[in-house]
Amino acid sequence: MNITPNYKTTSHPGLSILYAFELSGEHEELPVAEILACLRIEGLDFQLYTSIDQCLVVEIAGKEKDVEQVLKGPITERLAMTHHILKVVGITENTPDAVIKLADSFESSGYLREGQCFVVRAKRIKHHVDFPGELLEQKIGGCIYRKGFRANLKNPDVEFRLILSEKAVLGTILSSIDRSVYETRNPQNKHFFHPGVLMPRVARALVNLSGIKPGELFMDPFCGTAGILVEAGLVGAKVIGIDAQEKLVVGARMNVEAFELDYALMEGDACRMPFKQATIDAIVTDPPYGRSAAILAESLEKLYSCSLEEIQRVLKPGGIAVVVSDKEALEYGKKAGLKVLGIYVQRVHRSLTRTITIFQKI
Ligand SMILES: C[S@@+](CC[C@H](N)C(=O)[O-])C[C@H]1O[C@@H](n2cnc3c(N)ncnc32)[C@H](O)[C@@H]1O
Repeated sequence: MNITPNYKTTSHPGLSILYAFELSGEHEELPVAEILACLRIEGLDFQLYTSIDQCLVVEIAGKEKDVEQVLKGPITERLAMTHHILKVVGITENTPDAVIKLADSFESSGYLREGQCFVVRAKRIKHHVDFPGELLEQKIGGCIYRKGFRANLKNPDVEFRLILSEKAVLGTILSSIDRSVYETRNPQNKHFFHPGVLMPRVARALVNLSGIKPGELFMDPFCGTAGILVEAGLVGAKVIGIDAQEKLVVGARMNVEAFELDYALMEGDACRMPFKQATIDAIVTDPPYGRSAAILAESLEKLYSCSLEEIQRVLKPGGIAVVVSDKEALEYGKKAGLKVLGIYVQRVHRSLTRTITIFQKI
C-alpha cells in the first residue's frame, strides 16, 4: 500500500506542502491550465505533483500562512473551473482499506486545532470506485474522532474532503469557488444582450490563461457585448475593447458600466488598431465565427490574417494572446510571428467546436 505523506523534502529550501484542486470536469485540460496560470500570476513557487481525473495536486514552497492567504484570496477569486482547494492530508490507492489506513495514521495537528469540530465528505469522480462514499465518510470520521475531535455535520470548523478518482486524495477544504457568481453574469442577465457570447466561466478561464495581472492593460479587438472584457475587468485589469459595429459598442458600454470597471471602448477595425506597438499586456478575443458572422473585412481569412498581425504588433514582448475560433487561428498567428504555447479544443455542441489557441509574442 502506498501512502504519500503531505510533507516532502524538495529542491526548495524549507517545507513544501501539497495542495489539491478539485476540478469541475467541464473540459479535460482547461481547468488544469487555468490553475497553473493563476499560480504563476500570483508568483507562487510551485511544481506539479500529480494530475488525475478531476483533481490536480501541486506542491507549493514557502511559508504556509502566506501561501494559504494567496490560495484563499486572489486565486479563489480568479478561478472559474475549480470547485475546491484542499490542503492535502495524503494521497493513496482508491480502496477503502488504503483510505482508512491513511485516515488512521495522519498527524492531525496541521489540520485541526484543539477543540475544533469537523465533518467528512466524500466525492466520487465518475466511475473510478464502485463503493459508496458515505461508508468511508463515517469510517474516516471515526478515525479522526479517535484522535480527540468531535464531529459536527451542521456547523463544522474543518471540512475533510475525500476525492475518489484514479487515486484517493484526502484533504481539508481551504476554500471553495463560488461558481454561481458566473451564472449571475450570463449573457441573458446582462444589461445588453446579443447572441454569440462566450459563457462567463469560459471567458474567465481564458482571461486567466492570458496571465493578465491587476492594473495591467488588457484588450479585446472583437469585443462585441464585452463578455470577455467584464471578466478581465473583474480581476483588476484596465480593459480596452474594439468592435466594428456601433450598436455593439454602445451595448458593451452598458455592460461594463454595470460593473464599474476601468475601461475604454471604441468603434473600429481589429485590422487597424489605434495603438502604438508593444503597448498591450494581454489579449483574449473571439473573432467572428462561421459564414453568418457579421464581419468588417473582405473575407474571414483576411480578417484573421490582418488582425493577428495587429495583435502581434500591439502586444508587449512576452505578452499572451488567447484566440478562440471555429477556424484554425494557428497558421495565421504563426505567419504573423507569434509563438504557439498551446491549443485546446472545446466541443460546444454537435455542430460547433471551438479551438482555443494560446500565442505569445517573443
Ligand atoms: C463572436 S463576436 C464577439 C463576442 C464577444 N466576445 C462578446 O462578448 O459579445 C465577434 C465580433 O467581432 C465584430 N467584428 C467583425 N469584424 C470586425 C472587425 N474588422 N473589427 C472589429 N470587430 C469586428 C463583430 O461585430 C462581433 O461583435
